[in-house]
Amino acid sequence: MYRFQLTTTLYYGPDSLSALSALSGRRVLIITDAFMATSQLMFQVREVLAEATIEVYDKVIPNPDVAAVAAGLAAFVAFEPEALLAVGGGSPIDTAKAVRKLALELGHRAEAGFYVIPTTSGTGSEVTSFAVITDPVTHAKLPLTSDDMLPDVAILDPDAVSTVPPFLVADSGMDAISHAIEAYVAVGHNDFSDALAEKALRIADTYLLRSYRSNQDVKARTHQHTGATMAGIAFQNSGLGIVHSLSHAIGGSFKVAHGRLNGILLPHVIEFNAGELGIRPGEISEVARRYVTLARSLGLSASSDRNLVLGLVGWVERVRRELEMPATITGAGIDPEEFRAKIPALAATALQDFCAEGNPVKATEADLTRILEWVA
Ligand SMILES: NC(=O)c1ccc[n+]([C@@H]2O[C@H](COP(=O)([O-])OP(=O)(O)OC[C@H]3O[C@@H](n4cnc5c(N)ncnc54)[C@H](O)[C@@H]3O)[C@@H](O)[C@H]2O)c1
Ligand SMILES: [Fe+2]
Repeated sequence: MYRFQLTTTLYYGPDSLSALSALSGRRVLIITDAFMATSQLMFQVREVLAEATIEVYDKVIPNPDVAAVAAGLAAFVAFEPEALLAVGGGSPIDTAKAVRKLALELGHRAEAGFYVIPTTSGTGSEVTSFAVITDPVTHAKLPLTSDDMLPDVAILDPDAVSTVPPFLVADSGMDAISHAIEAYVAVGHNDFSDALAEKALRIADTYLLRSYRSNQDVKARTHQHTGATMAGIAFQNSGLGIVHSLSHAIGGSFKVAHGRLNGILLPHVIEFNAGELGIRPGEISEVARRYVTLARSLGLSASSDRNLVLGLVGWVERVRRELEMPATITGAGIDPEEFRAKIPALAATALQDFCAEGNPVKATEADLTRILEWVA
């Protein structure tokens, strides 16, 4: 028996913020960051919640740590909300998820629900039971998981992403691409997650660069927003892989955006998983065959399966280049010597990250070390 989880109700498209009117008359704690707290979006949220009693906790920092969660929890306990609403990118949403989990453990239910309004198109956090919290001592990024962290309602309003600057469209878009590709080959992949991952990738193929080039392209930003959520539902139900375990390890030690690291790692991980492209006719592995199917779904064609896998690698590299993202760790501004010195520790950390369990090819510490050397 298998399980495909569909917990979160999605409202999407223009005017979907009006779904918040269900919270009229309720006590609502909003968890957000300082930038979003003063945004036009928050003004619109306040308008819809005019009849609610609102408290705003806006101290979320990017890559939230345990202290940020503890402060959010203190705000929750002090206000005793009937509903929790996260507004922002992955950082406010993940903070709110961890706060919700801990509040439940302390007996605070907020029975009117857990709502999220994602303002970036990438993490998929609005539909997953994962939250990434940083350990302030070791700086490791800890992916936590609990069904209690699944939002009840996610609102995908195009207005929420109209202000995203190009570099953030790129970083979050590459995160969504890596969710789709990792979900498609992960050990837990299934027909449902395959459909969502494949479609999410085709949406990125059509709309990500358009989203990057113009925040006036509402159609592109709307579809890219939907696609990122689709990729989130896919990986929630199939797992991820070593792009994410390596990215979490590197991101814990060096200040580079998660999606940017994924973009550097993804082509190398595809090659590693496909057997470093030692594919001969009649000998193609199951995972390489899945990359071939994905390549075909993007409309790529080639004279051999090996070249189709290479085509998928080339597609990621082309999107990355057009998004003006770095191809190496050094290109991302990390000192190469400092990075190389940390490779053994990073490989050991990545091996322990639970995303590694989803990878279709079991990667040893030596394999992870080799990939880290490739990306340096
Ligand atoms: N839970 C998961 O499954 C999951 C998956 C991937 C990443 N993550 C985590 O999510 C976090 C990253 O999230 P993120 O990339 O969405 O960014 P973020 O939430 O960290 O925000 C980054 C910056 O962008 C700004 N911003 C957000 N929305 C904006 C908008 N609409 N317009 C203008 N500026 C905006 C924020 O104010 C902030 O300064 C990391 O902590 C990462 O580890 C979680
Ligand atoms: Fe991610």
